Amino acid sequence: MLKKYLFLVLTSLLINHSFAQTAKHTFAVGKNEFLLDGKPFQIISGEMHYARVPRPYWRDRFKKAKAMGLNAICTYMFWNAHEPVEGQYNFSETLDVAEFCKEAAEEGLWVIIRPGPYTCAEWDLGGLPAWLLKKKNVVMRSSDPNYMPQTLTYLRKAVEQIKGSLITNGGNVLMVQVENEYGVYAGDKVYLNGIKNTLLDAGVDVPLFHCDWAGKNYFDKAHIDGVMPSINFGGDAQKNFSIFEKYAPDAPRFNSEFWTGWFDYWGGKHEVHTVKEKLDDFKWMIDNGVSVNLYMFHGGTSNGFFAGANGGNNYYTPYTTSYDYDALLNENGEPTDKYFAFRKVILDKFPDLDLPELPVPIKKIEIPEIQLKAYASLEDNLPEAKLFDTPQNMEALDQTSGLILYAHEFSGVLKGTLLIKRVMDRATIYLDGKKIGTLDRRLNQSALPFTAGKGKHRLEILVEHQARVNFGNAIDQERKGITEGVYINGKELKSWQHYTLPLTNIDQFKASAIKEGYPHLYTAAFDVSEVGDTYIDTRNLDKGLLWVNGRLIGRYWFIGPQQTLYVPGCWLNQGKNEIKVLEMGTPKKLSLTGIKHQIWSTEVDSSLMHSRAGQRIQLVNKQKVKSGLLENKEGWQEVKLSALVSGRYICLESTAAYEDSPFTSIAELRITDAKGADIPREDYTIVYADSEEFGEENGLASLLMDNQPTTFWHTQYSKEKPGQPHQVVIDLGKSSSVSGFRYLPRIKNSAGRVKGYNLYVSKTPFMIK
Ligand code: GLA
Ligand code: CA
Repeated sequence: MLKKYLFLVLTSLLINHSFAQTAKHTFAVGKNEFLLDGKPFQIISGEMHYARVPRPYWRDRFKKAKAMGLNAICTYMFWNAHEPVEGQYNFSETLDVAEFCKEAAEEGLWVIIRPGPYTCAEWDLGGLPAWLLKKKNVVMRSSDPNYMPQTLTYLRKAVEQIKGSLITNGGNVLMVQVENEYGVYAGDKVYLNGIKNTLLDAGVDVPLFHCDWAGKNYFDKAHIDGVMPSINFGGDAQKNFSIFEKYAPDAPRFNSEFWTGWFDYWGGKHEVHTVKEKLDDFKWMIDNGVSVNLYMFHGGTSNGFFAGANGGNNYYTPYTTSYDYDALLNENGEPTDKYFAFRKVILDKFPDLDLPELPVPIKKIEIPEIQLKAYASLEDNLPEAKLFDTPQNMEALDQTSGLILYAHEFSGVLKGTLLIKRVMDRATIYLDGKKIGTLDRRLNQSALPFTAGKGKHRLEILVEHQARVNFGNAIDQERKGITEGVYINGKELKSWQHYTLPLTNIDQFKASAIKEGYPHLYTAAFDVSEVGDTYIDTRNLDKGLLWVNGRLIGRYWFIGPQQTLYVPGCWLNQGKNEIKVLEMGTPKKLSLTGIKHQIWSTEVDSSLMHSRAGQRIQLVNKQKVKSGLLENKEGWQEVKLSALVSGRYICLESTAAYEDSPFTSIAELRITDAKGADIPREDYTIVYADSEEFGEENGLASLLMDNQPTTFWHTQYSKEKPGQPHQVVIDLGKSSSVSGFRYLPRIKNSAGRVKGYNLYVSKTPFMIK
C-alpha cells in the first residue's frame, strides 16, 4: 500500500509536476523557462477567485482542476473584501486565503497569488476599497500619499496570510504578482517599486511577476527590475508571444491570463465563446511548452455588492452578479464542453498523465413556487438623517454600498427641469411621496421635467450604488450617490437630509405597509428536504437585491441577461430557509422558484443601442477632413491629418470593407489630440451608429471604446444586413484639436475589417434623422 502511494506521488511529480506535501520544493525563473526543483516546468493553471466560490466547494473545484490536467490554481486577493473598513481586516470563511492554499495543496495543486492591490477582475473598484475615495483628490494606483501608504499596509497584512504557504516555506505558492496590467494604465515606478519592496520586505521570497498586454509600450510602463513580465490575451497566442519575445527575450513564455470566455453586463447579451474560438490557441501553447493560466477556469459569482463595471464620464456598463464567464466550469461548478476539449489537449500532449476521475456531482434541487409576502417599506426603515447644505456622496459618509436617500424640503411653486449632475448610479425621484421618474447612468440620463404647485413639498432622491468601475481611468471618480449637486432651472438646491442605507441590517427591518413607488422588503420561508444547488428564478421580479438565510446573494434585474441567482446548496439548511427580497420596482408576480440551471435571456436592452431603425445621418455640408484606405492587417493603425482640425463631434464612416463585406467591425477607436495623444475615452459618448448587431452578438458601438481589444462594434448581420457605408459618431465631450485617429481592427477575425474610410469633424452635432 505504502509502496503504491509512493509510486503515485513519484509519477505524479515526474509527469505532472503536481504539488506533493511530502517534500520541500524549489521554484525559480530560469532563462526562457520555469524551473521546478531545478527542472523545466510548464505551468498549466486555472484561475478561480476564492471570494467568488463558496468555501465548502473549493475542494470540489480543485478536484475538477486536477481531473482536467491542470497543475496550478491562480487567484486574486481582493483588498476591499479583506479590508472593508480601514484598519479592519477579514481573512475568515470565504476570505481565508491560507486555507484556500492549503486545500489546493492537499489536492496536489500549486498556487499563484495576485494580491493586487488593484485587480480589475470585474470586481467593484477593481478591488480597491471605496474608503480610499474619501480623500478628495486621491490618485489611485500611484505613489500619491493619499493612496500608497494604505496600499503598503494592506500588502503587509496580505503577506502575513500567505507567507506560510510560499514554496520557500514548504507550501505550494510558486509566484506572486505585482499590481495588475499596470502598463495599460500608467507608468509610476515609485509606486511599483514600493509594492515590490514591501512584498520582499514582508517576506515574499518567491519569484514576482507582472502581467500586461503584449506590447513594448505596456512593458516600458510596468516593468521594474526583478519582476518577471508575462502577457494576457484572449487569442492569437503565437502573435502575442512574437511581440513579447522582442522586448523580453529571456523571460519564460507565460500567458498569465488566457481569456476563456468573457463577462456579462446588465442589459447585454450573454457572452458565449465557443470551444472552436479558443481551442487552437490553447493547443498551440500546450504543445509549445508555453505556460498558461486560464482566466477563468471557474468564474463563480460576484456575491453581495462586489460586481464591477466598465465606464467613464458618459458611458457605463455595470456587470451582472453571475461571473459565469462562459468558463470551463460553469457558475455552479459543472464541467462544460470547453472543459473536456481543453482536457483532451492536455492529455494528447501528456499521454502518460494519470488523471483522477471527476468528483461525484454536487446535488442540484428544484424549489417549488415560494410566495413572497410584503414585509416592510424602506421608507419606514430610514436611519436618522444627517443634514448638509449640499449633497454628500456615500464615501464621505463612510458608506460603501447599498442605497442613499436625499431629501430636500421647500415651499411654493417650482417648475422646470430637475438636473442631477453625475448620477451615481441610478436615482429614483419622488415628490411628496409620489415617484416622478428615474435617472440611469447607463443611459446617460441626468434630467427630467419637474412641477411642484403651491404649498409645502418634500423632494426625495434615492440613489443606488450599482457597481464601481473597475477598469480604466474612471476609478478616481467612482464616488456614489449625488456627487455634483441637484439643480432646478440651473439653480442649485441647498439643504439636504441624508439617510444612509448600506442594507447590512436587513434582518432588523421593522414591518410596515407598502408605500407605492418605494422599495419594499418581501420575505418568504421555504423548506428543503435535501439541500442542493439551485438557481432562484427571479423572472417575476423587477430590480433589486436578494438574500438567502441572511446572506446577500446579489443583484437581480429583469433586463438580464441573467435571470436567476445561483444559491449553492451549502448555504441552504435542511428544513427551514428564508429568502428576503428588496424590490425597487414593480414585480409582475410575488413568487419565486428554484431551478437547476442559469437562464440567460435572449432579449437585450435596446435602450443601450446607438442605432435606431430607419435613422440616417446627414453628412452633406459637413467637413470631410480625410479619406483613405486602412490596411488589411491586425494591430493598431494610426491616421494623421495633414493639419489640426478643431471640433467636438467625430464621424468615422467606413465606405468599404475587405473581402467586399457589407459589415463593419471595429475593436477600438481613439481620436488623437494636438500632441498625437489619445483624447481620453472616459470623455467620449457614442451618439450614433447606423447599425449594431445586438442579437447574435454583443456588437454595440460602445464596445469600440471599452478599451478591451477582444470586444468590437459590429453592424447587423443576423436579421438585416445593411451594406456599406457605415458610420459611428463620437462626441468628445468638448471642443478639441484633432490630429487624427487610431484604430484597432477586430482581433483574429477579418469579417468587417474596414478598407475605405472618411473622417468628418464638426463643431456642432451631426443631423441624424
Ligand atoms: C484583464 C484583467 C482581469 C480581468 C480581465 C477580463 O485581463 O487583468 O482582471 O478584468 O481583463 O476579464
Ligand atoms: Ca473593444
